[in-house]
Amino acid sequence: MILKQEEQAMLEGGFGEGVKLAMKVQVALGEAFDAPYMVPVTRTHVALSNQEADLWFAEKLANGGATCRVRPTVNPSFNFEQLSCITHIEKEDEETVKRTHDAYNRLGAIMTYNCTPYLEKNVPMFGEICSYSESSCTPYMNSVYGARTNREAAQSALCAAVTGVVPYYGYLLDENRKGEILVHVEADMENDFDYQMLGYFTPKKTGFKLPVFTGLKNPSKESLMNFGAQLNTGGNVAMYHIVGFTPEAPTVEAAFHNGDIKEEVTVTNDDLREMQSMLTDGYGKIDFALYGCPHFTIDQVTIVAEMVKGRKLAVPLFIMTSGLTLDLAKKMGYYNTIREAGGYIVSDTCMDQPCWKFLYGKKGITDSPKCAYYTKRRDMEFVIVPLEQSVEAALKGEITGYRK
Ligand code: F3S
Repeated sequence: MILKQEEQAMLEGGFGEGVKLAMKVQVALGEAFDAPYMVPVTRTHVALSNQEADLWFAEKLANGGATCRVRPTVNPSFNFEQLSCITHIEKEDEETVKRTHDAYNRLGAIMTYNCTPYLEKNVPMFGEICSYSESSCTPYMNSVYGARTNREAAQSALCAAVTGVVPYYGYLLDENRKGEILVHVEADMENDFDYQMLGYFTPKKTGFKLPVFTGLKNPSKESLMNFGAQLNTGGNVAMYHIVGFTPEAPTVEAAFHNGDIKEEVTVTNDDLREMQSMLTDGYGKIDFALYGCPHFTIDQVTIVAEMVKGRKLAVPLFIMTSGLTLDLAKKMGYYNTIREAGGYIVSDTCMDQPCWKFLYGKKGITDSPKCAYYTKRRDMEFVIVPLEQSVEAALKGEITGYRK
C-alpha cells in the first residue's frame, strides 16, 4: 500500500504504541483486500461487546497511549445500575463493564451505548466515508443514506477511529455498490415484522450477492432498521438497493449500473410465513417478553405503552433502548405506564450480555429473530411473532396456535 507521510509515521511508532498497532491492523486489512491506499473517515461506530477480546484490544490501544481522532459512538454493554435493581449481577461481570467503560473513555469514544447510532447521534450524509461495525448499521448506512462503509469488525472500526483513515476497498468503491441480483417482492409487506422476515429470508436465496428489491413501498425507519439487522444475521448483506426508494437506485437500471441482470428471484407471502415457522420456537406458555434487538425507537415504545396502559402483564416485559429514548419515554409518561403494568425499559443494554442470566433456560417472546439467534447459545427459547401479537401474549402469559 502507498501510505502518506503521516500514516507511515503512525506505522513506525511515531505516534505511540497504540496508534502503531491500530495502523498495523489497517495496513494488514488493506493488503488483504488489495487496497491501493488509505482514505480519511468522517464517522465511526464501534460494536463494543464488553467481552474478553474486546476489552483486551481496547485496553491494549488505550495503554499504548492511543486516542480517537474520529470519536466513535459505541454499542450497548449493560446498564449495571438499572439491571442490578432487576437481578443479581456477578462481581466479575460488573468488573468487565467498568473496565470496558474505562478503556473506551480513555480512548475518547462517545459513550452512547446504543446499536442504532444511524438514527440518533451519529447520522451520516450521502457519500460520507465511514467505518461502522454492528449488523443493522452497515446496511442502513450504505443503502438508506448512501454513505460508504465496509462491514467492519469492532476492532477494525476502532482502529479507523484511532488512525482517522480506512483502506480504500469494498463498499467504498463505486463498482462494488452495483446490484447483483434482482429480488421481486410479491409478499404484502404489511408491517415491520414482514421486513424482519424478508431480511432473514433474502440471503437464503441470494447468498452474498448485493440484492436489488422491487415491490417495497416507503418502508418505515423501524422496518429498515429490522431489515438490515436480519440481512446481516440471516446472512452477510451489508448493502442493498430498493428501487425508487434508496438514493443509489432511482431505477432498476441505475441500481445495476446499467449492466445486465443475470439473476432474479421472487419472494412471496408463503416464503415469509415459512421463514417465521422455521425461526420461532413452539407456542404455549411464556415466561417473559424481550424487545429492542436492535434498540427500540420511541415510536416502538409508544406502541407497547399504549397496549399495556391500565393493564397488568402476566409475565415481565423488557424493552432495551438508548439513553435518549429512555429519557424521552420518561418525559412522555411511557416509562411509568410500562412500569405500572409490570414492564421495564432498560437503556444501554444488549441482548447478548451476561446480565440476562436470570432468563436462561426460560421461554420468551420477541419480534426479533436476531434476539433469538444470539440467545440460542444461552439456552433461551423464543417465540417470534409481530410486536402487537407478542405484547398481547405477554399480557396473557401465553400464546396459542403453532406448535413445533
Ligand atoms: Fe443491539 Fe445487541 Fe441486538 S447490539 S441489535 S441489542 S444483539
